[in-house]
Amino acid sequence: MDLDPIPQTIADDPHPIYRVLREDEPVHYVEKRDLWVLSRHEDVLAAIKDPETFTSADGVVPSGFKPEKPTLIVLDPPDHTQMRRAVMRAFTPRRMAAMTDRVRGFARQLLDAFPASGEVDAFESYTDPLPIYVMAELLGVDASERPMFKRCGDAIVYSSGADPASLLSAQRELTDYLQTVFDERKRDPREDLISLLLTSSEEGRALDNEELLGLCFLLLVAGTETTTSALGNAMLLLERHRDARELLIEDPSLIPAAVEEILRFDSPVQGLSRIVRRDVEIRGQKISEGARVHLLFAAANRDPRVFDEPDRFDITRSPNNHLAFGLGIHFCLGASLARLELKVGLEELLARAPDYQLSVDRLQRLASDTNRGFSKLPTVL
Ligand code: HEM
Repeated sequence: MDLDPIPQTIADDPHPIYRVLREDEPVHYVEKRDLWVLSRHEDVLAAIKDPETFTSADGVVPSGFKPEKPTLIVLDPPDHTQMRRAVMRAFTPRRMAAMTDRVRGFARQLLDAFPASGEVDAFESYTDPLPIYVMAELLGVDASERPMFKRCGDAIVYSSGADPASLLSAQRELTDYLQTVFDERKRDPREDLISLLLTSSEEGRALDNEELLGLCFLLLVAGTETTTSALGNAMLLLERHRDARELLIEDPSLIPAAVEEILRFDSPVQGLSRIVRRDVEIRGQKISEGARVHLLFAAANRDPRVFDEPDRFDITRSPNNHLAFGLGIHFCLGASLARLELKVGLEELLARAPDYQLSVDRLQRLASDTNRGFSKLPTVL
């Protein structure tokens, strides 16, 4: 059996391979990728909690790609510590909760544009634009510039395999626009994320122009497609588990717990990687300094040592200590916002289209080494 987990991101069910890895080869070497794979919850957790040994500085994807200028997700302490502190101020649960009405407004606006009946591509009409609109709002993009932001955002986020020239021009256009926003906020600060990050306070220092640009691009890349994927995965799970959908329609207060189970059961980020800074030994297996190690969150999230009946989709599961947002110092900065978008996004979708039917034979999966989601969701209303 080919135990390379990377192509499993687009498999209908990656878990048969993940199960073999986790149960029989918990420390597995994929020769053609020169990549070690950890798949047990305990091992993945130990690695993400030890950034001194498992560094992010050489990129967190199996290919080793990293942004030109180092930004939060590829920083190690102490740089990470002070940057995270500076940025955290803008991501408090209170500030995120304050976005609830805006998120709901966007969700309703998109759902209102659905036809009364017939077919829509829920990716194009809902799961893709919703997180992009929320991100535009977070970054203080003017409503009139939202179409530009979506066009450039899509070009940047879904750039794999695309023409490099169009990626570059989208990056330039967005950089120029964000620069005008920074300049405006410097002159005339508002109550928003950019204004906050441009000023120092007791809780953290101000970001310089380059740092802020890098952060905006990171937020766009880390925060939109992941949430889009989570929403699409949720739609398929609630297509396959009609009983769960019924329960959520009857009692929407169950949605937050269901969101956690959706993230555990079909994790949008299946895995991310690190480089080991020194020789290590895991379960008797030696891994040499400089080797790349992939942390398979999605396999850890079905580890029977941590989750009872891990292959059962149980929207009332408690506790649910999944690793879909990572853990430790790089724990997802946008987790509160993502949870809010998923909760509100599902509440509104189930209220508007409780009987939606996905055309499961015509879905299209997104190509990615790390993320699992859809790029086409034909849906009958
Ligand atoms: C369901 C949606 C999402 C999932 C599954 C997800 C998953 C993750 C994971 C697994 C990490 C850990 C990275 C690592 O350990 O190397 C992470 C980090 C991060 N996420 Fe998310 N994310 C989501 C949504 C968002 C959103 C909405 C934002 C922004 C608004 C965001 C911004 C970030 C940032 C900036 C980091 C880096 C944090 C650091 O390095 O300190 N994410 N995310």
